[in-house]
Amino acid sequence: MKEKNITAKIIVYSYNELTEEDKKLIDLAKDATKRSYAPYSKFNVGAAILLDNGEIITGANQENAAFPSGTCAERTAAFYASAKFPGVPFKKLAIASFTRGEFQANPVAPCGACRQALLEYEHLAGKPIEVLLYGSNEIYVFRGGIKDLLPLCFAEF
Ligand code: THU
Repeated sequence: MKEKNITAKIIVYSYNELTEEDKKLIDLAKDATKRSYAPYSKFNVGAAILLDNGEIITGANQENAAFPSGTCAERTAAFYASAKFPGVPFKKLAIASFTRGEFQANPVAPCGACRQALLEYEHLAGKPIEVLLYGSNEIYVFRGGIKDLLPLCFAEF
């Protein structure tokens, strides 16, 4: 038998250490939480995607009384980005969440379904989508892309 290791590098930043581009993307993800419709969970998530063409698309979670019909912030943004600019690679994705009157102190990571959906766009583009997970205490940056968030992923495409 032999062992194999799965590794992923997380770079931890404070907000002030970020580039202006990254600060802007995080600010837009935070702002997008205001457009979340989350009367059931009261967990407001915002996402902002910087595309290769310089456009930034934001999204927020949208819930529904028929629970599975709702959508996460990340997929709202990713599907809209792809619907508006088909085939344009996603360069960076920032995520923030706001609940009980404040932004989460620790970075909030995308759910499994969002990771799978984002992975497909990353794979199509052939280069990593940098991921910035906002927490008011610290910010996690994954330069390796979505594949680092979803090791041993299913990929038929
Ligand atoms: N949610 C997101 O928008 N993104 C995630 O990555 C995790 C969860 C939403 C779904 C639901 O509206 C609420 O947060 C609580 O789970």
